[in-house]
Amino acid sequence: MIIAIDGPAGAGKSTVAKLIARRLGYLYLDTGAMYRALTLKVLEKGIAINDAKAIAALALDSSIDLINKPDGTLTVTLDGVDVSLAIRKPNITKSVSDVAKIKDVREVMLKLQRKLGGRGNVVLDGRDIGTVVFPKAEKKFYLDADLRERTNRRHKELNGLGQEITLNAVELDLSNRDKIDTNREFAPLKKAEDAVYIDTTFLSIEGVVEKLLVFING
Ligand code: DC
Repeated sequence: MIIAIDGPAGAGKSTVAKLIARRLGYLYLDTGAMYRALTLKVLEKGIAINDAKAIAALALDSSIDLINKPDGTLTVTLDGVDVSLAIRKPNITKSVSDVAKIKDVREVMLKLQRKLGGRGNVVLDGRDIGTVVFPKAEKKFYLDADLRERTNRRHKELNGLGQEITLNAVELDLSNRDKIDTNREFAPLKKAEDAVYIDTTFLSIEGVVEKLLVFING
């Protein structure tokens, strides 16, 4: 079974997707991590963020993989190197939406995501999973939350990673990315018509997981 979880940054998608995958013994695929890995390579190579042609060529020439570890964590590799931590840095977060809006980049990722998703029972989280990547996914969810709550959650998460960043900076990043992700021409962030909408603003992680499991098992 394919379970698609879409929604804006900070809505709790990755935490929830990881827990659901663990409970069900499914693979977890963080599709945002794939765009982040490519963004890391773009910045390392010094390619301009608006050079769509060069970035698309780089996407074709890159090997990105997601490896589920037995302890429930996910390792992201770029050309065979573990970049799981590097892709969470603020410079990546700042540029990733501009990389993800490039049509030819999305085509490369689409193929890769469909290939990885074909590995079996899988939970994928992203922005266009239920609408574009797996429109026939058996279960689709759209997780959302107030910007303020998403800001608090992301702020806490980044602090946990040792990143000192102000609440204002986090809020600005989230609203900028929401704007780019929602308004882009190709595969914008949007709820699939047949996705279950869940507002997680006032829900605990466990509460969200339980809600999803009711729909998944139903
Ligand atoms: O989930 P995340 O915040 O790690 O995602 C990083 C960026 O990648 C996000 O701002 C938009 C892009 N993205 C996308 O365009 N499509 C996806 N399926 C997943 C992420």
